[in-house]
Amino acid sequence: MSNMHDKVVIVTGGSSGIGLAAATSFAAAGAKVLITGRRVAPLEAATQGTNAMALVADVAIAKDAQRTIQAAVDAWGRLDVLVNNAGAGALLPLADATVDRIADIFAVNVIGPSLLSAAALPHLAATKGTIINVSSTYGHRPVAGLSHYAASKAALEQLTRCWALELAAMDIRVNGVAAGPTETGALTGMMGLSADRAEAVKSDERNRIPLKRRGEPLDVARWILSLADPAAAWVTGQVIAVDGGLGLI
Ligand SMILES: NC(=O)c1ccc[n+]([C@@H]2O[C@H](COP(=O)([O-])OP(=O)(O)OC[C@H]3O[C@@H](n4cnc5c(N)ncnc54)[C@H](OP(=O)(O)O)[C@@H]3O)[C@@H](O)[C@H]2O)c1
Repeated sequence: MSNMHDKVVIVTGGSSGIGLAAATSFAAAGAKVLITGRRVAPLEAATQGTNAMALVADVAIAKDAQRTIQAAVDAWGRLDVLVNNAGAGALLPLADATVDRIADIFAVNVIGPSLLSAAALPHLAATKGTIINVSSTYGHRPVAGLSHYAASKAALEQLTRCWALELAAMDIRVNGVAAGPTETGALTGMMGLSADRAEAVKSDERNRIPLKRRGEPLDVARWILSLADPAAAWVTGQVIAVDGGLGLI
């Protein structure tokens, strides 16, 4: 298990799915963890009986970026790891694309992580800390009907590489994890599918994934932790696919 003793970690979108699994794993490894989300109830449920701290903050709201970073620094005096996990997506055929719908996706997947990372910079420089961005198989594979989600994740993957280069002089490492289809509430939640449609998509994905199963949140969280681990000190600018082989086909 990683040694995160006394490290301070922020996980955006930490109240469910991959973010919750990552936050729980960081806490189990000894880290002090701040999780964010838009809704109070899931945040309270996620932090009940733990040492983790919850903050209601929306990655799509620019002024929440500084507030999020400051909350962790005020509480614990430092910041070691920023996990840009919260994401937005929608089935959005090109014919239905509008300014607002495209902007909503990019606000969470591109602009929010940029502002959070910028606000985190002085603190990460002080600790030689690290940024981990959560992308998707569709950040590097084309998919019909999800083009703006896919393009926003492609942008996040390229930001990961550019920031790695730019921030190496400050000893800040930047990496990404590109998750394949994972058992979370995302299909009926952020993607807005009906329960029936979600089941059909899941079944199709299980058949297409070379390892023949959808991922569990911990499958992905483990790699977020590994990239944050001091043992990964010489790894930067990488986006690791954790996807059962889906990206290979
Ligand atoms: N599940 C998959 O199959 C899959 C595959 C590839 C990549 N991913 C990526 O993995 C990441 C996590 O997805 P997930 O499947 O674990 O999702 P999830 O189970 O739906 O959880 C999303 C989390 O993010 C929070 N959130 C959503 N929008 C937010 C915002 N604007 N600001 C702050 N918090 C926000 C949610 O809480 P609130 O709703 O209360 O805000 C929740 O805590 C996303 O970036 C997603 O694109 C997921």
